[in-house]
Parts: sequence; C-alpha cells; structure tokens
Amino acid sequence: MTQDELKVMVAEEALKYIPKDGILGVGSGSTVVKFIEAIDRFKIKVDAAVSSSNKTTKMLQDIGIRVLDPNDVEPYGVYIDGADEVNPAFDMIKGGGACLTREKILASMAEKFICIVDKSKLVPTLGKFPLPVEVIPMGREQVARSLRALGGNPILRQGCITDNGCEILDVHDFMIEDPLAMEAKINAIPGVVTVGLFAKRGADMVLYATEEGVSVKV
Ligand code: A5P
Repeated sequence: MTQDELKVMVAEEALKYIPKDGILGVGSGSTVVKFIEAIDRFKIKVDAAVSSSNKTTKMLQDIGIRVLDPNDVEPYGVYIDGADEVNPAFDMIKGGGACLTREKILASMAEKFICIVDKSKLVPTLGKFPLPVEVIPMGREQVARSLRALGGNPILRQGCITDNGCEILDVHDFMIEDPLAMEAKINAIPGVVTVGLFAKRGADMVLYATEEGVSVKV
C-alpha cells in the first residue's frame, strides 16, 4: 500500500468525527487535502469551517463549504489536521507545509484536536523531521543564532513566504527530549512568530493508518 493510499484511508476514517452541527476546524497539508476530497466524495454536511491556510480555504469553498473568519467565531468543537511527527505523548511537529501559525491558532480554539497521519509519522522522539520555526524576516539571523545556541542547525526554507508574510527556518539535527520546555524556550526568542512544536496544545486523539487499517489512540 502506498503512503498516498494510507492517507486516503485515514482521511475517510476522520469523516466520522465531523460534528453534525457547528463549526469544523480544518488544517493543511496533503493528508488534509485527502480529507477535504473525502468530504466532497461522500457528500458530508459541514455547516461551516475555519481554515488554516489559503489553500485549504479555497478547497473548502470550491466544494461549497462556508469558511468563517476565526475572529468571528467562538471556541468550537473539533479541529482535524495532519502532522509531520507525533510522539507517544501526542506532542507533534507541524509546519512542513508552512501553515503552522494559523494551525496553532485554530488548534488552540478547539475543544478536541484530532490528528490524522499515516504510520510513518509516529516516532519515539520528535526531531528527525526538521522543526519549522516561522520568523519575522528582519529578525531571521538573530533567531537563527538563538536556535544554534539551543543546539539546532537552522536552515532558511528557500522560496517560502508564509500566508502571514514571514519566513521559515527549518531546524535540523535537533532531537527534542522535552517538547514542552523546548516550545517555551523557542517561543521566548524575539522574532519568532510560531514554533512548529505542538506540545502545550498537543493532539487529543490520533488516527493513524497502517496496511491493517486505521487505529485510534486516545
Ligand atoms: C502544514 O503546515 C503541516 O503542519 C501539516 O499538517 C503537516 O506538514 C503534515 O502534512 P502532510 O499531511 O502533507 O504530511
């Protein structure tokens, strides 16, 4: 089974968790693309959504789903999104698609964060996947110095400007033993907009696909 097929499997399973009424939070990335395609394919009713990227917004609107401004919405029920890595405590690295800031905002507003991944994303320790850090462009080099001081090797993601007009440093060679503490340290660096470590607000439930089917971890 290909990774793409596993993503379709987990995306279809996630349809069960769409609330009957109210707002759905929708993340970004290739697994979420499969999720939106599945909503359309199975004609699932979604009252309205909040979206974590311009690409997701367009896809939702193209299939007739109303997308609301998060500023006009109260904290809502369910946020569904992928991840680049998930550890056994449900801490995650996210931001491979450069949408980490809006993802973190929407995740923080949701009662339940449901993470949808294929088995390749489950890891014992976060950090093999380079950690994305969104930065204010004029502070990029100073943020990079601070990240080096923390033990990482930050590399500017070439040709990438986020939906917020910022840049991304991908931090390589950075195994993260204490995600909560590291998230707080990186958040404290001036010039950091968002770190793609989701520890303070990790997932509440992980759906992961293997050749044997989709399993749920709660
Ligand atoms: C987007 O910025 C990310 O946080 C995605 O959730 C993450 O990169 C997973 O993407 P895939 O579903 O494409 O692997």
